[in-house]
Amino acid sequence: MTTNPIIIDCDPGVDDAIALLLAFASAELDVLGITTVAGNVPLSLTQTNARKICELAGRSTMRVYAGCPRPMLRSLETAEYAHGTTGLQGTELPEPTMPLQAQHGVDFLIETLMQSDGDITLATLGPLTNLAIALIKAPQITPKIREVVMMGGAITHGNVTPLAEFNIYVDPHAAQVVFSSTLKLTIISLDVTHQVLTTPDRLEKIRSIGTPVSQAAADLLAFYGSYDIEKYGMPGSPLHDPCVIAYLIQPDLFTGREFFVDVETTSDRTIGCTIVDLWQLTGKSPNVNVIQTVNVEKFYELLIDRLSRYV
Ligand code: RIB
Ligand code: CA
Repeated sequence: MTTNPIIIDCDPGVDDAIALLLAFASAELDVLGITTVAGNVPLSLTQTNARKICELAGRSTMRVYAGCPRPMLRSLETAEYAHGTTGLQGTELPEPTMPLQAQHGVDFLIETLMQSDGDITLATLGPLTNLAIALIKAPQITPKIREVVMMGGAITHGNVTPLAEFNIYVDPHAAQVVFSSTLKLTIISLDVTHQVLTTPDRLEKIRSIGTPVSQAAADLLAFYGSYDIEKYGMPGSPLHDPCVIAYLIQPDLFTGREFFVDVETTSDRTIGCTIVDLWQLTGKSPNVNVIQTVNVEKFYELLIDRLSRYV
């Protein structure tokens, strides 16, 4: 089996945590390191939570880095309402004993990419601040990035404002730096992730795996779901970030098309919305592979199969 070297940039966060557990249990992926960013909760918690999940997964030698503590221009807006004050509400994981790497996450991205032969994929699960700063500080990394697969954006509806999705909304200027680059971009937006719901029967299948990892995952998702179920009246919470990892493991579970996508950064009412030119009205060349469908049942089969691999 050929392994796909990846770096995961994240803001754990409950769905980030499930995405990390999925990645660590999948031999198709070679996780070179985890960079963390301020997003769902402040950086001090996202970097701690990333290490807690690494230790839960038995990956205490994984290199975890702290990146940017705030967006490029806007002040940080967090999402404790969805993830709890710790960012991993629903379960009590021990304080990590594995070290946080001393190097800044942005410098780790630059150094690792520059030393590579261009085969590394970046999986971004949070605001794009780290990647944008790396591109500004060292634009020479651009050809060294095989692809960026991100959870972010919305075609039809937002989750923070009527039009904007959280990761893009928190740092729309960083998103504009990334979307206006020449990087190969794939986005998995709310239009897809809101199809992937942690319904009670799926949650029960995860819990019935019966291991400490599956127990923690089920407890995390039970809390995480309560917000979305109440807010959207849906039968479960959308599993946003694990969709990125599932795409990297089994891309044929998804379909997408290339469109021109831009980011709105000016009006208070629309800031952070991703403008997807579905009908080629701008005359601008497509710059993003916009994922549009997911095989939900096969996604959950994959997630449960991989969570079952923990002992
Ligand atoms: O809008 C959902 C995204 O924002 C997810 O990545 C979630 O973890 C938060 O970062
Ligand atoms: Ca996230």
